[in-house]
Amino acid sequence: MLSLVCLCAQKVVSDHASLRRALDSIPRELYPQLFTAAFRDRKTLVLQDLVQRWPFSVLSFQELLQGDPGQLHPNPSRVSTQSVILGVMDYLGDAKSRERGCRLRLLDMTGAQDTVLEQGPDAMSLWSRTVTLAKACIDLSKRCRDEATQAAKRRRGHGDSPLAPSTPIDFVEVKTDLFVNSTSYSVLREALQASTHGPLRLRCRDLRAEELSLRSTVGLLELLNPAGVRQIDLRFNNLGLDGLNAILPAMVKFGTLRSLKLPYSNIDVRRLTPDMEDAMGKFAALIGRLRSLKELNLGSSRLSGRLRQLLGSIEEPLECLELAFCFLLPADLYYLSRSPHISNLKKLDLSGNNLSELLLPPFQQLLSTVSSSLLYLDIMECKLSDSALSSVLPTLCCCTRLRYLGLFWNPLSSQGLRTLVQNCVRLRELQLVVYPYPTDCYGDDPDRGTPYSPLLDNAIDQEKLTQFSAELQEMLVWAERTPAAS
Ligand SMILES: *[C@@H]1O[C@H](CO)[C@@H](O)[C@H](O)[C@H]1NC(C)=O
Ligand SMILES: *[C@@H]1O[C@H](CO)[C@@H](O)[C@H](O)[C@H]1NC(C)=O
Repeated sequence: MLSLVCLCAQKVVSDHASLRRALDSIPRELYPQLFTAAFRDRKTLVLQDLVQRWPFSVLSFQELLQGDPGQLHPNPSRVSTQSVILGVMDYLGDAKSRERGCRLRLLDMTGAQDTVLEQGPDAMSLWSRTVTLAKACIDLSKRCRDEATQAAKRRRGHGDSPLAPSTPIDFVEVKTDLFVNSTSYSVLREALQASTHGPLRLRCRDLRAEELSLRSTVGLLELLNPAGVRQIDLRFNNLGLDGLNAILPAMVKFGTLRSLKLPYSNIDVRRLTPDMEDAMGKFAALIGRLRSLKELNLGSSRLSGRLRQLLGSIEEPLECLELAFCFLLPADLYYLSRSPHISNLKKLDLSGNNLSELLLPPFQQLLSTVSSSLLYLDIMECKLSDSALSSVLPTLCCCTRLRYLGLFWNPLSSQGLRTLVQNCVRLRELQLVVYPYPTDCYGDDPDRGTPYSPLLDNAIDQEKLTQFSAELQEMLVWAERTPAAS
């Protein structure tokens, strides 16, 4: 339900012409409410005016949009976001704004957007927002240069020294996450170059780069303002150890970098030549130089037997470790369960590692050592059968803070899942369990291949599945837990 203030704000922003006439007399305390209403209702012209005259030094999406009951999309609306950017451009392009006492210094677009997916027809993806901001940066910087040239010409015309000091330019910083691929690389690079001295200055919090070459990636990292960089996510870049070793030195300057994601980096420890052994050592040493690192993702690299070497140089305990499809060996899990990193581990992803036999005992040991801190456990596609799962259950039930458990694509039967639910209802913090279709809910046709293959969704006996889901719901209701599993 909207509050009375929200309803009034909604009414006010619905009439652009009257609002515009009244803008000079609207008290600044009302700007945030008006902004929120205009953003939600996509009142683009109103938004542009409000941003151009923003009376505070900071305009933060997180503060203004989160908790707004009308703001249901995790991705803010495209037209509204564009209008905010246009408003900032108007502000910077208009000398009168300053005279009016406007003083916008920071547009903080982080926080309102946690997903890179385009959600809904009117939502703006992070990729498009990155491109829009980049173009705004380039455009403003060019306008600023043109004006400076004009001014210099005029001064020469008046006989002034062409070297007369120009006024320092007014600028606005934009704090944002950036998502770039090879299509948008050049525009972002030009924008980052323009933004060092231009009127609109990009300050990146989380950078995600996909399918970029080694040179492009290093080029971007070198252009980023190091202040405030929190996460670097480089995926599908096929860099290999040598590529990563060429890139990591550019990250050492990011003193606040807490999260490094390098999935699909094509590290493969089988058949290492002596040169590659050296590269491996160098990679480990470089990771160790990222002093604020708390989260590491090396998914889909072949790391068998090398975890000790890779993580040994990281001094501070990690909070999040993602090692999906890494072909881990028992020695890796034993190392982890004794390493300093388990003391504070909140998220562990071991999906795609075969936990069915040899890895089961070390996995149990690992689980028991992280049980007091673990919030998030992903063990999808780990070949866990009913019997393997039931041997893990006592340890799993000690993870009293667990909020999320991912079990998809494991060959579990409906009986196995019942046992799981009976045990897990005791975990009071647990909010989401992603479970597989039970093996016995597949049709009986033996020609359909292995029963739990995800590619065989159409082989599912819908009737059995519906019956089973209903039974689970009932179990949850009995246990006085809101059904959340799916
Ligand atoms: C880059 O990402 C955008 C948005 O997702 C997409 O439209 C484009 O095709 C991508 N470019 C490449 C080369 O994959
Ligand atoms: C999983 O690993 C065990 C050895 O630990 C092996 O015997 C088994 O065949 C593997 N399972 C699959 C499905 O790959």
